Amino acid sequence: MKKIIRWIGIGAGGLLALLVLVAIGLSWRGNVRLNRIYNITPEAVILPTDAADIQEGERLVAIYCTNCHGDGVSGTDFFNDPTLAVIDAPNLTSGEGGVGAQLSDVDWVRAIRHGVDPAGRPLFIMPSRNFYLLSDEDLGEIIAYLKTAPPVDHSANDRSTTFLGRTLLTLGLFGDLIDAERINHTAPRPAVPTPGVTVEYGQYLAVTFGCQTCHGPQLAGGKDPDPEAPPGPNLTPGGKLGAWDEHTFINTIRTRKSKWMAFEALNHMTDTELQALWRYLQSLPAVTADQVQE
Ligand code: HEC
Ligand code: HEC
Repeated sequence: MKKIIRWIGIGAGGLLALLVLVAIGLSWRGNVRLNRIYNITPEAVILPTDAADIQEGERLVAIYCTNCHGDGVSGTDFFNDPTLAVIDAPNLTSGEGGVGAQLSDVDWVRAIRHGVDPAGRPLFIMPSRNFYLLSDEDLGEIIAYLKTAPPVDHSANDRSTTFLGRTLLTLGLFGDLIDAERINHTAPRPAVPTPGVTVEYGQYLAVTFGCQTCHGPQLAGGKDPDPEAPPGPNLTPGGKLGAWDEHTFINTIRTRKSKWMAFEALNHMTDTELQALWRYLQSLPAVTADQVQE
């Protein structure tokens, strides 16, 4: 009997040692991924200088950036769980603690389109795989505005991850949140549709905003990367939206408040843009059951 207990003890000890080794390996792998250096020299983008284009840039920033970087892009405490990681969305202005004064024009393009900081490190969570598809014109207006954004003094915490955080990262428990890994940095720039009430332009708005991140690759229902969030509902004509018309859609976007989805960001879209989004959603294959992908 004693012998059996001893053997069980040795077995359990061995298993524990193995698990510790596996965790060390996974955490190390997470660290390697976060500290890999990407040598990217992005193509320069022409920055407009007239007031109307800069104002348009401010509107685009309200749609695409303030949800994470905060009002006035002065930075937020985006993810803060001391057991896993502290990841701020930094202050983008040229105020104290902001990155605005340090970034060159090409640094802006590298960060937004490629998800890589000036030192070549991949940016965590920043959705550059969507922004990679932004037109030169939209990106130029965004950067032109950011360079003139009113300076706000606000410092961000340095990015830090814990052993557990890095282990879970490698296990894929946070989803794919290092966009630099997923972008084909040398792919030819995709053609951009002309703005207007068309399915193609609606698709451009949906993919650059990243509706797929939460509503699923087919927009037929998906899992928000935030583990606490409810599933993103089915947006195809087979779901609840099958009973909606354009007016219901635009009205919902313009008036709904939600803790989980930034309706107020989409509210900065023009009627033409929301009509294009609606056309695109209506063009999708009708999927009846919500296809939430875990
Ligand atoms: C889903 C949230 C999210 C959205 C939306 C987002 N960002 Fe970020 N962004 C982040 C986070 C988080 C970081 C910090 C990443 C890190 O430290 O690894 C970041 C980092 C950056 C940096 C890097 C600063 C540096 O040099 O270290 C820039 C520049 C930036 N974002 C610009 C933008 C712009 C412009 C937009 C809109 C077009 C935008 N971001 C939209 C979350 C977001
Ligand atoms: C960060 C995750 C996230 C993103 C990105 C996102 N959504 Fe949502 N959306 C949700 C969640 C979660 C809900 C359901 C909860 C709620 O309405 O409060 C929702 C609800 C909706 C609804 C209401 C549906 C219903 O059944 O009442 C519409 C319409 C919608 N989203 C459209 C869009 C469109 C269009 C985009 C892209 C332009 C988008 N969403 C991007 C998470 C997201």
